[in-house]
This record gives sequence, C-alpha cells and structure tokens, in this order.
Amino acid sequence: MRLVKTLLGATAITAAASAAYATDLEVTHWWTSGGEAAAVAQFAKAFNEKTDHNWVDGAIAGGGSTARPIMISRILGGDPMGATQFNHGRQAQELIEAGLMLDLTDVAEAEGWKDVIHPASLLDSCTLDGRIYCVPVNIHSWQWLWLNNAAFTDNGMDVPTNWDEYVAAMPALDEAGIVPLAMGGQPWQSSGAFGVMAIALAGPEAWLAVNKDKNADVAGGEAYAKVFEAAAAAREYSKNTNVQDWNLATAMVIEGKAGGQIMGDWAQGEFAVAQKVAGVDYTCLPGLGMNELIDTAGDAFYFPKNDDAEIEVAQKELASLMLSKEVQVAFNLNKGSLPVRGDVDLSAANDCMKKGLKILADGNTMPSGDMLLSPDTSGQIEDLMTQFWSSDIAAADAQAAYAAIIAEAE
Ligand code: BGC
Repeated sequence: MRLVKTLLGATAITAAASAAYATDLEVTHWWTSGGEAAAVAQFAKAFNEKTDHNWVDGAIAGGGSTARPIMISRILGGDPMGATQFNHGRQAQELIEAGLMLDLTDVAEAEGWKDVIHPASLLDSCTLDGRIYCVPVNIHSWQWLWLNNAAFTDNGMDVPTNWDEYVAAMPALDEAGIVPLAMGGQPWQSSGAFGVMAIALAGPEAWLAVNKDKNADVAGGEAYAKVFEAAAAAREYSKNTNVQDWNLATAMVIEGKAGGQIMGDWAQGEFAVAQKVAGVDYTCLPGLGMNELIDTAGDAFYFPKNDDAEIEVAQKELASLMLSKEVQVAFNLNKGSLPVRGDVDLSAANDCMKKGLKILADGNTMPSGDMLLSPDTSGQIEDLMTQFWSSDIAAADAQAAYAAIIAEAE
C-alpha cells in the first residue's frame, strides 16, 4: 500500500488500507498523438504502480473541440468518468456550478497546493467561490512557431528568427515545393494561430483589450487590421496543407514537407518522438520571435462526482499523484509543456523547454483565451476562423465579423 496518507481523511485511509479491491478509474482526455500518448502514459504508469487502482484509458480522438462535448454530455447525462481533462479556465465552469465536480479543497490544503503551484493563476483557474475543483498538470503555451531548419538552409536561406523573416522566406519555400505554413483543418488550429499572431503583431495590450476587456473597437481597429491582413497573406501560403489533424501538420514540418507551423508547445512532443533535436533539426520561436512571452494556458484534471466512496479515494489519490514532483517531470518532459511547480529537476529539458522556462521565470506571461473567453465565444471565433482560412473572405470582412463577436462576448 503506497497511499499518500496526508491527503486522505482517516476513514479513507482505513478503507483503502484494508481493501483488497482495486478501483478501475476511467480517465478521459484527447491526447492521441504520438507525443501526447507518451506523456499520458506517464500518468497511467504512476497510477498503476503507486496506488492499488487501475487507470482505464478513455482517449477520445479528434482533438479537444470534439472531445469536450462528449465529456460534458456524459457528465450531464449521469454517466460520469472518474477523471477528465479540460483546459483549465472556463470550460468546466458550468459543470462545477451545477455541483457535478468533486471538491478537492481538502487535498489541496493538506498538500499545500497554493505554495507549490506557480504561477498562482493556474490554481485560481481551478477555484470557484474559494473551493478548488481541478488539478492543473502543466503550463501549455500557444505562443510558438516551429520551423524545419533544413527547409530553409537547403534552399539557400537562413533559418528565420522572427515572423517577418519567415514571411519574407515564404515565396522561396513555395517555389521549392515546400508548403510555407502548415495549417491543419481542425477549427481550433486556425483560431489558436490567429490568437498567437494577434499577440505577436498587434501586441499584448491590444490582445488583452479584446480578450479580457471585450473591447470591440480595438477588435475592429487598426492594430487588429494588421493581424487580419497578415493572416490573409499567410492563408495563401498554407493552402496546400491538406491535412486535418494538428499532429499531421506538425509531421509535415518534421519531414520537411512544410517550412513551419504555428502551434502550441505540445508540438514539441512530436519532434521528440521523431527524435529531432531542438536547435539542430528544428527551431522554436516563442511569440513568433516578435514578443517573447508565453500564455499560461494548460491542462487540468477534474473529477466528476460518482457518489461512490471508493471511487472518491482513487480520484483523490490520482489528483495528488499528478502533482507529485516525479510525475510532473516525467509527464511534462514527454508533453513539451512546463511543470506547474518550480521545485522540480528539469536538467533534461531541451532548448525549447529552456526558452519557455526562462520566459516563465522572467514573468513574461499572459492569461490564455480559455481563461478569458466563454466556451460559446471561443466556439464562434473558431467557426469564423475556419471559414476565413478555408475561403477567400477579405481580411476587412472577417475583421468586422470578429469585432461583432467580441461586442457580444462574455
Ligand atoms: C491541450 C494540449 C493538447 C492539444 C492538442 C490542447 O487543448 O491543452 O494538451 O496537446 O490540445 O491535442
């Protein structure tokens, strides 16, 4: 019995210590790419080895936008899983308000989560009315451009150091038969890339005015006009991507079929699985090399109420384990994300992760769209961006539609 005894009440310890049972805990998530599968396997391994319970893997393919409605309808429909991934922020807010999620405050207090989790905004995003309902497991930032070095050097160019240099290289990549910018077809990808371009090109203040203050004038104004124009120009150079899944678009960069991709740092897991070396085979530019910052988005696990004391014991053990030092390191090294605690040994971090850690240490962070926008608003922006990237809608028309969404946003 290797229970983390501090986190459980006396009753739970007695029950678990005397029990010959193992609880099967179904854990749902949308981690199905090579790098993601390697990362989530670390959670499963630790849970199976360090507790008496069993991890029942509930991977849902198709990305978060496909997985979340399935997860939510199961919870609402009375068929809750033992634990589930969401991006921390507002995605699970209504489920918490409806009383459907397990309150983890006792575990959090017993283990001093407030003292170890950094930045504090991560735990704040799990907190509603002073109670804690999720375990943040990583800091995942969207703010990255991934480049295949050889795609540039083999064609007589230097590897770009920022977005402007990259844009200048796009015609030559195109000429060489390389897709300049890989953009997969899942709606969240173009929407996420647009958010990255907005921070890089319009600047953090304009981005906050739009996403935090919901300022429709800024969304419809000059700074954002530049972003829409840049996106319209980049759209032309992404047309031959022809894949849906984000990791297939990343694979094009890994294989040199595409020059680059704007994608969250989870892309790093794919480069790792392909045994590519950061700084040698590929380059990562935080903030598109324009504004070096990261957003502190990420993944968190929530534990739907099952009304079963045994399941609750297993749920709380998993919650605790996910934050343990060892598991934080093993998971995040595979995932390409940063740990949520600063007191862990990251000597094995690669170049890109080191860049992220430095930006974090310097405090150059932003909240994420998931934290500021309601799922409904995010969905409307995703729809608009998919339409925009897959058609010839003029930049100005798309911008007007965007400003209208922001005007109504909550
Ligand atoms: C999650 C990442 C995941 C990515 C692609 C994001 O929403 O936060 O953990 O790797 O989706 O599946």
